[in-house]
Amino acid sequence: MPLGQRLRELPGPLLLTGHTGFKGTWMTFLLEHLNVPVVGFSLPAEKDSLFDRAERTGAIPEEFSDIRDYEALERFIDLHKPSTIIHMAAQPLVLKSYENPRETFDINLMGTVNLLDIAFKKDFIKAIIIVTTDKVYRNDDSGRAFVETDPLEGKDPYSASKVGTESAVAAWQQISRISGGPNVVSVRAGNVIGGGDLAKNRLIPDLIRGVMSGSEVEIRNPSSTRPWQHVLDPLSGYLTALELSIIDPNISHFNFGPKDRGVEVSQIVQMAKHHFPQIKTTYVAENFAGVESRTLDLDSSISTLKLNWYPVFDQLDSVDLTLIWWKEALENNFSVSDLCKNDILKRFS
Ligand SMILES: NC(=O)c1ccc[n+]([C@@H]2O[C@H](COP(=O)([O-])OP(=O)(O)OC[C@H]3O[C@@H](n4cnc5c(N)ncnc54)[C@H](O)[C@@H]3O)[C@@H](O)[C@H]2O)c1
Repeated sequence: MPLGQRLRELPGPLLLTGHTGFKGTWMTFLLEHLNVPVVGFSLPAEKDSLFDRAERTGAIPEEFSDIRDYEALERFIDLHKPSTIIHMAAQPLVLKSYENPRETFDINLMGTVNLLDIAFKKDFIKAIIIVTTDKVYRNDDSGRAFVETDPLEGKDPYSASKVGTESAVAAWQQISRISGGPNVVSVRAGNVIGGGDLAKNRLIPDLIRGVMSGSEVEIRNPSSTRPWQHVLDPLSGYLTALELSIIDPNISHFNFGPKDRGVEVSQIVQMAKHHFPQIKTTYVAENFAGVESRTLDLDSSISTLKLNWYPVFDQLDSVDLTLIWWKEALENNFSVSDLCKNDILKRFS
């Protein structure tokens, strides 16, 4: 069945939380491409975010409220009667989670608990995807790729809050089995990249900020590897998992990793310098050693087996696509929305 068809056949729209974020903006463009009706619930977009640059305010029915505001969320759900939900709203930054651990837990765990608690009171909701992260796995830096059944343990406050989110998912999966209710599935992906992301303390956004400001970019942990993955690959996985979860109660968690093993940070920096020779960088001592994990790879065989999902872009293509997006936006003044739509056509045609 073509992607989106089962969602189009449902009576209500898809509720996307976090629609003003990086992944949320791309997901909304993708849902529009697939003609799937979508409504959004999030905090207002940050200045210079992809949502802001693409002037997306008012593009879909939306509310700018806090996921921790139970009454506002329930009112919105009652108003729009969504048939399905993808929950992405979160405080997603590791370093910020060290500064605000309590708030990170509050948003990531209690926001999810609010959403699940409300959703289970509404019989019009059929399936829910909860977006967590590859950082939920207990990471001993062995270099082994994680599978869905591996033990979970969050070292830093962000990862721990997402392990808490996974516990909430497990609890509501159990409620669903015992008392009925929507199917709940968690999805785990790694550092995603793509045009428009300017989140702090992420490598490509840091490099792009360096291009825009002309200032030197500090590169930490140059020998670390990360699973660089174009945002459209896991987003297609989230939608495929959602469509299957509407009809199959026996699925619970999916990894969506990149095609090949991680690429070193230093290689990404070289590629950025190829597209933007003006970038100035300096390598700093690994002062975040122990704060962020050195290696992290995901095994996505279960997603391939059960969802027929596989990543289309390899890691180097994903980096290139992202850098070209920024070059067209910053140096050739292309429309940000058109750039996203073009990348969607490349991924899905
Ligand atoms: N971007 C990545 O590399 C990556 C990797 C793994 C997992 N994730 C997960 O994917 C999801 C989306 O990440 P992103 O990169 O798009 O993040 P983002 O920071 O760009 O977007 C976060 C979204 O959540 C919303 N939000 C934050 N706090 C909120 C609150 N209290 N109430 C309502 N809305 C709130 C924001 O308004 C925004 O729409 C998150 O759950 C994140 O943990 C992201």
